Amino acid sequence: SWTMTSIIEHEVDAVRRQVGDARVICALSGGVDSAVAAALVHKAIGHQLTCVYVDTGLMREGESDQVVETFQRNLQIELQHVRAADRFFERLAGVLDPEEKRKAIGEQFIRIFEEAAGGIEDAKFLVQGTLYPDVIESGTPDAAKIKSHHNVGGLPEDMDFELVEPLRALFKDEVRRVGTELGLPEEIVWRQPFPGPGLGVRIIGEVTPERADLLRKADAIVREEVKRADLERDIWQVFAVLLADVRSVGVMGDERTYGHPVVIRAVTSDDAMTADWARLPYDLLERMSNRIINEVPGINRVAYDVTSKPPGTIEWE
Ligand code: XMP
Repeated sequence: SWTMTSIIEHEVDAVRRQVGDARVICALSGGVDSAVAAALVHKAIGHQLTCVYVDTGLMREGESDQVVETFQRNLQIELQHVRAADRFFERLAGVLDPEEKRKAIGEQFIRIFEEAAGGIEDAKFLVQGTLYPDVIESGTPDAAKIKSHHNVGGLPEDMDFELVEPLRALFKDEVRRVGTELGLPEEIVWRQPFPGPGLGVRIIGEVTPERADLLRKADAIVREEVKRADLERDIWQVFAVLLADVRSVGVMGDERTYGHPVVIRAVTSDDAMTADWARLPYDLLERMSNRIINEVPGINRVAYDVTSKPPGTIEWE
C-alpha cells in the first residue's frame, strides 16, 4: 500500500543519512523485529550491512536454516552464521536454577556476539529492532517483568556502537506489514514470540544437547498440528515443555516404558502481560499426544497445561 511504501522510503532515507558509507552490523535472532529491521537497513545500504546470527543450539526445528536461507540466499544479505551450540551447552552443564540459566545463556550470547562483531572491520553502527511500544515503555519501571528478560539479542549498552533503530516509530502490526512488503517469508513475519533463551527455559532441569533434541522433536509436532488445524493465528503462543527430571511409567505394545513427560502449552493473549490457556479441540490434543509418543522415543506421557497468566507465566521458567 501507499502508506507502507512511504514508511519504507522514509526510513530508508533516514538510515542512509545516518550511516553514510560506514559499516553496520545487526544481530539476527530469528524474531520478527530484528528480521524486519535488517531487511530495511539492507534495502537502504546493501552490502554495508553485515548480519550476525548466533546459533545457540536452543532454537526450534528448522529455525536456523530458515534464517540463513532467507537472509543469505533469498535476500543476499551478508550473514555470519556463528555455530556456537557447543559453547552454550558447555556453559549450561550443571545449571538448574531458571535465573542462572537465563544469565548463563545471555552472557554467553553477548560474549560470542562481541567476538563476531570484533572481527567485522570498522563497524560503527548497530541495528536494533526497537519498536514504538518499547520506546514508550523504556524508562518506566516494568512491574510485570518478573523474570529477568536477559534478552538474547539484547546487547550491553557499553558496546561502542551508535544505534540504528528504523522501527522506532512503528507498532507490531506495521512491522509485519513492512516485513511482508520487503519480501520476508510468512514464517518470519508471523512468527510467534519466542524467548531469547530459547528451548533452554523449556527444558525443566539441566539443558543438554540430547534433551534439546527431544524437545525440538516434540515441539515440531505440536506446531505442525496447530498449523494443520489452521489455528496458528488464533493462538498467541503454542509450544512443548520437557520435564527432563521427571519420569513416569507407561506401557507400549508389551513393553513397560519409563520415560519423560512433555507438557503442551498453548495460550491466547493480546500482549503477554495476561494470558488465557487456549481451549484447543480435544481431537487436536489427541493427535499431538499420539504423534509425540509414537514419534519421539523417550517421551511416554503428554499433559496439557490449563493454567492462565496470572497466576502462571506463559513460559515454565
Ligand atoms: P512469561 O513467561 O513471563 O513470558 O509470561 C511473557 C512473554 O515473554 C516471552 N519471554 C521472553 N522474551 N526474552 C524474550 O525476548 C526472554 O528472556 C523471555 N522470556 C519470556 C514469553 O515467550 C512470552 O511471550
